[in-house]
Amino acid sequence: MYAVDLSPLMCRLVREKAGRAYLPVRVFGADMRHFRLPESVDLVTCEYDALNHVPRRADLRLVAKAVLRALRPGGHFFFDVNNSLGFERYWSGTSWIEKPGVVVVMRTGHNRQADRAWSDINWFIRDGSCWRRRHERVEEVCWDPGEIRRVFQETGFDQLRAWDAAPFFKDNPLIGPGCRTVYLARKSRG
Ligand SMILES: C[S@@+](CC[C@H](N)C(=O)[O-])C[C@H]1O[C@@H](n2cnc3c(N)ncnc32)[C@H](O)[C@@H]1O
Repeated sequence: MYAVDLSPLMCRLVREKAGRAYLPVRVFGADMRHFRLPESVDLVTCEYDALNHVPRRADLRLVAKAVLRALRPGGHFFFDVNNSLGFERYWSGTSWIEKPGVVVVMRTGHNRQADRAWSDINWFIRDGSCWRRRHERVEEVCWDPGEIRRVFQETGFDQLRAWDAAPFFKDNPLIGPGCRTVYLARKSRG
């Protein structure tokens, strides 16, 4: 089992988590647009809208090609993406999440013409009697279902199935019907 992420911190957390669970995962710091695995695999997964994080529209094709290279013939790619309805509904305005010792304030925006969304996230983490503030900016590209279908067909996937993600995220009020889609693409055997 292999794991790929661009962020060195995320890679470290995955190594620690896999180690605690005694899971044999090899973690690579790599870009999903260009990654290569030491051997081909039956399944590649890319969850929690990670595919929306690539910076340019042309990157969807690069990711599809990199995944195709990593898969055995007939292998599957499972991924989910936020849709424009999700960006319109949840990425417009300011929201606040509070848990013991952590407060998150998110200012979000969506540019419908450019099909892009962003989130300025301010974290307040309790440190003794002080609160430490951290800032993070996340930008996402919004994919059109037709564009996803075309890119995967042209790249060498012979089947693409899609489901609305809402039933899989029943406890998450930020993923309503039509806001996120789960896909399963199959690499052609030919
Ligand atoms: C919303 S998180 C999802 C994380 C993980 N898939 C999970 O299920 O918890 C998005 C992740 O995508 C990673 N990421 C963003 N752009 C990337 C890229 N071009 N190549 C590889 N990883 C990337 C980020 O570092 C981040 O860890």
